[in-house]
Amino acid sequence: MDFLDQSVLPQSSHHMVLLRYLLVLSYVLFVPYVSVLFGSLAYSLYFKKKSEKSGDAIHKKFSKDLIDFITYNKGIAFALGIIPLLSSVFGYAQLLNKSGLNVPEFLLISLIVLIVSVFFIYTYKYTFHLKDIFNFAGKNTKAGDSEQDINEDLASYTEKTGTLHRKSGQYGFILLLISVYLYGGSVELAADTARWESGNDILGVIFSIPAVLAFLQFISGAFALTSVVLLYIYFRPNSEVKIYDEKYGAFIKKFTLRNGLVATALFPVIFVISLSVRPINSLSYEFFITVIAVLILLLFSAGLFYLMLKEVNVKHVSALTYVMLLIIMLMVIKDQFAFNTSTKFQTALLSRDYGMHEQKMMEEMGISAPVSGADIYNGRCIACHSFDRKIVGPAYNQTLPKYEGKKELLVKYILNPVKINPEYPAMPNQGLKPQEAEAVVEYLLTTYKKK
Ligand code: HEC
Repeated sequence: MDFLDQSVLPQSSHHMVLLRYLLVLSYVLFVPYVSVLFGSLAYSLYFKKKSEKSGDAIHKKFSKDLIDFITYNKGIAFALGIIPLLSSVFGYAQLLNKSGLNVPEFLLISLIVLIVSVFFIYTYKYTFHLKDIFNFAGKNTKAGDSEQDINEDLASYTEKTGTLHRKSGQYGFILLLISVYLYGGSVELAADTARWESGNDILGVIFSIPAVLAFLQFISGAFALTSVVLLYIYFRPNSEVKIYDEKYGAFIKKFTLRNGLVATALFPVIFVISLSVRPINSLSYEFFITVIAVLILLLFSAGLFYLMLKEVNVKHVSALTYVMLLIIMLMVIKDQFAFNTSTKFQTALLSRDYGMHEQKMMEEMGISAPVSGADIYNGRCIACHSFDRKIVGPAYNQTLPKYEGKKELLVKYILNPVKINPEYPAMPNQGLKPQEAEAVVEYLLTTYKKK
């Protein structure tokens, strides 16, 4: 999409680090919010259905409280859902610029679907209340009490509101599922450079195993988190939410503890399965250390749930909430590690482009001094090279010996790189002019000799 490409400016490597932090931040807001939105809506729809069959007042009250809780003001949906997703669209557009990957576009679709879904969810909430008001009014106007017309109107609006209510709940739920699925699948694709060629269309995102696993992981995580959040809201020490009816309190406690335990126990299983489809080039030590920490914390929280369910008390609820928050942070950090590791080459390319852009700008403004070999090296090469260790490209100390005394050969290579070592991707053309290539080669060979 053109306007996404136009939003992109060449970024220095420092800016790209900032952009990655921005992505982490939007992720940390978005994922927990959407999880709790999804979990509460699913529980609310479930208990509404149940109460319609059984007429159980407790089920109905819980269904209504759930949706009131997650939609208690409109700002929340903007601040934690829509704005963070919008920032990841632009963040990814920058970081994946020129890669040809359509992830920003997929995320934009996910955002639009989310907005429509939120609209339906709020309609579901308002019609819940309206329906009750209509029903109440219907009961209190006896036939013949007032004019016939009003009674008929009331009956027809009661029915229409009921239909709108049912439909908006269902539509909101289905659209939320679609939005989340697309989001998870796109983020997985962004971190899987091996699939960038083959999976880069909407079908590639939809029909991919990582997307399915990310989705299952989201669902179990959403139920676990929603249960914890509900327990925290109702039962933490000094909670402001008072439950006047003891029976209602006992019901919520039992339901959330049991569901929380099942979801928390299921989560590590899906988590481990989804690790096995991780692309190899996204793995690193940091990644594994965070994975192990997440697994330990998950077992710990399943244990806490179990203890509370067994003793039918909620005394560990605060501890459990903090552990869950920590797990979410670590999951986000782990995904970011994977994304950073697998997109190293992409990042290096962009920061080289930045070097070129900067030089061009200075030339245009007439403030460019004759560029020295050292400047070219610092602007164009260090993103991928160092003398003593491999970064994206091999260490110079390993590759330069064969060029000693063969300056021309190296100049030729840099002006037109060919594939050499099968362990590395081919070096992209650096777009240097012949004098620039000579200057940087001069710099490399003399610096290398000095060391
Ligand atoms: C985007 C990353 C990237 C940038 C930027 C980059 N290189 Fe490379 N370079 C590579 C890769 C990858 C290889 C390994 C290519 C291969 O073996 O086929 C490589 C290989 C080399 C080699 C070794 C060639 C050989 O014979 O084995 C030299 C020398 C080199 N680059 C110099 C430079 C210089 C000078 C610059 C800056 C003007 C530069 N590179 C910028 C990625 C990069």
